[in-house]
Amino acid sequence: MAKTRVIGLDIGTTAVRAAQLDFGAGGRTGKGQPTLVRYGEVPLPIGAVRDGEVSDQEVVAHAIRELWVQQKFDSKDVVIGVGNQRVVVRELSLPAMPMAQLRASLPFQVQELLPMSTDEALLDFYPTDEFDGEQGRTVHGLLVAAVRDTVSANVLAVESAGLRPAMVDLNAFALLRGLTRGELGQRTVALVDIGARVTDVTIVSHGVPRFIRTLPVGGQEGTDAIARTMNLSVMDAEKLKRTIGIGYAVGPEHQDASEALTDVTRNLIEAVRNTFVYYAGNNPGKGIELAVLTGGGAHLPGLGQYLSSASRLPVTLGDPLATLSVARTAGGREAFAGHESLMAMPVGLAYGAAA
Ligand SMILES: Nc1ncnc2c1ncn2[C@@H]1O[C@H](COP(=O)(O)OP(=O)(O)OP(=O)(O)O)[C@@H](O)[C@H]1O
Ligand SMILES: [Mg+2]
Repeated sequence: MAKTRVIGLDIGTTAVRAAQLDFGAGGRTGKGQPTLVRYGEVPLPIGAVRDGEVSDQEVVAHAIRELWVQQKFDSKDVVIGVGNQRVVVRELSLPAMPMAQLRASLPFQVQELLPMSTDEALLDFYPTDEFDGEQGRTVHGLLVAAVRDTVSANVLAVESAGLRPAMVDLNAFALLRGLTRGELGQRTVALVDIGARVTDVTIVSHGVPRFIRTLPVGGQEGTDAIARTMNLSVMDAEKLKRTIGIGYAVGPEHQDASEALTDVTRNLIEAVRNTFVYYAGNNPGKGIELAVLTGGGAHLPGLGQYLSSASRLPVTLGDPLATLSVARTAGGREAFAGHESLMAMPVGLAYGAAA
C-alpha cells in the first residue's frame, strides 16, 4: 500500500525544519491535493551546520529531537536534502538503456565531468529528454554527483536523533517539487532559494529541471558585513539588516551599514544573474519567464526589486502552500502567513521521489 504520510526534514545553517504531508488514499502518486499536517522548526546555533554540511552532529541531533518533541511527529522516517558546492549537477547525454543499467554504468561514463573521483562520489542521473541522435537512441538529463562524506555527516546526525533517513534528495529537486506543481509547472521559472550561506538556483521548464547551480553565498554575508563595519554583535547586525534593507534611504547613522550591505548583496545578485545569463546562452528559445524566491535571504527588504531590475524579470516570493491544504491541527494557513517561502524546502522534501 502506498505510504500516505511523509516527513521532509531540511537541515539548514540557521534552523532544522520539518513538514509532514498526508497524501490521502492514493499515496504520493494519488491525484488528490496533499495536506500539510504538521510543521515546525528549531533554530541552530552558528557553526553547527556549515555550507549545507553538519559539522556538529550532537548539536544538530539535539535540535532534531527537540523538533520531534515539539511537533509530536508520528513517524521516524524522513526524507532529507543535500546540496552545496560539493554536490555537482551537470547536463549529460548518454546512449539510451534501461535506467538500472544506466545508473550502474555511470562511474565508467562520467569521470572526466567530475571534480572528484568516482569512488568517493554518490552518482545519480535524472533523465529529461530522449531522442534519436547521431549515435542512435540517446537520453539527455542531469547527472548528480555528491561527495559521499557530505551526505554521511547529515545522515549520521539524523540517525543519532533516533530517526531513519528513508531517502536523500537533492535540495534543488525538492524545491522544484514544492513550488512547480501548480501554474508554475506550465512555465519556465528560475527558483532561487537564498539561505544563510547557500543559494540554490534551479531553472525549471514545464516541471522539468534544466539547470541547477549552488552558489556559496547567502544572507549571512550581509549580516557579517554590517557587524564588521559597525562593530556590532551578529544579533544586532541581523536586526539592523532587516530594518534597513537595500535600495532605501537611510539616516546618516546607518549610511555605512547600508553601503556595506548593498555591496555584498550586489555580489549575490550578480552571481544569481550570471547563472541566468549562462542558462539563457545554452538554452535559446526556453527563456526564463519569472524568478521565484524562497529562503530567509529573500526577505531582505528591497532584494526582490533589485533582482528584478538586474535580471529584467518579474520576481515573486514562492509559496509551497498554494498547492496544499493545511490541516486545522497545523494551525491552518494563517499560522504560516509571511513564512511560506521558508517552508518550500521541507515541504518539497516531503514530496519525495515518487511525486
Ligand atoms: N526578514 C528578513 N530580512 C532579511 N533577511 C532575513 C530575514 N529573515 C531571514 N533573513 C536571512 O535569511 C537567512 C537565513 O535563511 P534560511 O533560514 O532560508 O537559511 P537556512 O536554510 O538556515 O540556511 P542554508 O540554506 O544556507 O543552509 C539569514 O541570513 C537571515 O539573515
Ligand atoms: Mg536553506
